[in-house]
Amino acid sequence: MSITNDLQPQSLLDTSLAHTFPPHFLWGAATAAYQIEGAAYEDGRGLSIWDHFAATPGKTYRGENGDIAANHYHLVQQDTDLMTRLGLGAYRFSIAWPRILPHGRGTINTVGLDFYERLVDSLLARGIKPFATLYHWDLPLTLQQEGGWVNRDTASAFADYAEIVVKRLGDRVEGWITLNEPWCSAYLGYGIGVHAPGIQDRQAAIDAAHHLLLAHGLAVPRIRAHNTPTAQVGITLNCTPITAADDRPETQRDVEHADAFANRWFLDPLFRGAYPDTLFATLGLTPPPIQEGDFSIISAPLDFLGVNYYTRSVVRGAAAPPPADAPETVRPVPGACYTDIGWEIYSQGLADLLVRLHQDYPIPNMWVTENGAAFQDLWDGNDQVNDPRRVEYLRGHIQALAQALQQGVPLRGYFVWSLMDNFEWAEGYSKRFGIVYVDYPTQRRIIKESGHWYAVFLAAFRQAYQP
Ligand code: FCB
Repeated sequence: MSITNDLQPQSLLDTSLAHTFPPHFLWGAATAAYQIEGAAYEDGRGLSIWDHFAATPGKTYRGENGDIAANHYHLVQQDTDLMTRLGLGAYRFSIAWPRILPHGRGTINTVGLDFYERLVDSLLARGIKPFATLYHWDLPLTLQQEGGWVNRDTASAFADYAEIVVKRLGDRVEGWITLNEPWCSAYLGYGIGVHAPGIQDRQAAIDAAHHLLLAHGLAVPRIRAHNTPTAQVGITLNCTPITAADDRPETQRDVEHADAFANRWFLDPLFRGAYPDTLFATLGLTPPPIQEGDFSIISAPLDFLGVNYYTRSVVRGAAAPPPADAPETVRPVPGACYTDIGWEIYSQGLADLLVRLHQDYPIPNMWVTENGAAFQDLWDGNDQVNDPRRVEYLRGHIQALAQALQQGVPLRGYFVWSLMDNFEWAEGYSKRFGIVYVDYPTQRRIIKESGHWYAVFLAAFRQAYQP
């Protein structure tokens, strides 16, 4: 059978899939500052906890760091051209707090603001809607020296920083995301120390999480005060659906505990104004230092929730209840496929998750702000990177979006993680998530097969609404 014959029916199916999305649905790709920018010591940028963590022996794969990364700071025009070639309708990026306030608070580095202004203007000139994340894990190191997120004062420093950025860019940015995945900042950073700042103290994670939530809540009105009335304000959470491995009561119990830990820890205070009842007890920890009025700040109404989805977790009940953060999981799941980072590919989980969020919480709008897969991509040295499994992954998850929309989920857009290969935190450059390949020695970008596939899909989507 020829390749053309194979491709034909599939591309027809993709076209009809593209046509199931409503006209204003936004399609984009996402990145984060420390993962792509490089220029770590240029133009007045201060140090962040990630500079320090990556420089600490044994913390990242082969000691790799974001000093140069994908050199996006210098290649910003070229990268926005790339977005045009892909036909993106939106681009989600993050702003590096230490570029704006090298010490976290105090003196403003206007050169840092100029960089993001150039990026935003370049996007707008190309008809691409800018979505800015204010905190994607790069806390200014000076603030960490004062306790970081364990220190309540960091929350108000964040709100001040947010206001500075929004005063400059609020007339042009379409969507503001206060925090990216505070679960990771708190638990991976302070609880088990696999991310910056590398602290291993589970109680500190609980306190850090509370201050992250507070930071978000304090920033929301400060952002609203300075942006255009049409701009949207929200937060992005990483949600991991928990599937029961069987129907034993102990499994049901451990699934509930795992769900409270993985999902409700942040969802409940944001959308219900309280932590899940049993969360801290099932972790064997005490509640954070909650002050009067905190929950009304944290649960201030939002325009949207950003959902990052990569995989699920399958939990099997243990005889004695384990701590909520250490349930017994089924790995590998029989018959399942895994990505290069070891995450199960399970697209149905995305549809189920979106429907569940819609049913359980009063969330006005949702965006999938990250979704993607790592594979060991090989570049042929010319113009080709074949990544059929990423095409399959994206197609499957986009079908899941269609399913969620059919079930009434107020889903407004989708961002692929990631626009291009980048520094994958503790995994260094060993994991490639991009739909564009980066050859790090030359900083050349090569659109992968998945990037071409996405471009064709987006063209079919646009075509559906052209007269
Ligand atoms: C998410 C992060 C993002 C990237 C992907 C793979 O948890 O937000 O920066 O590392 O995972």
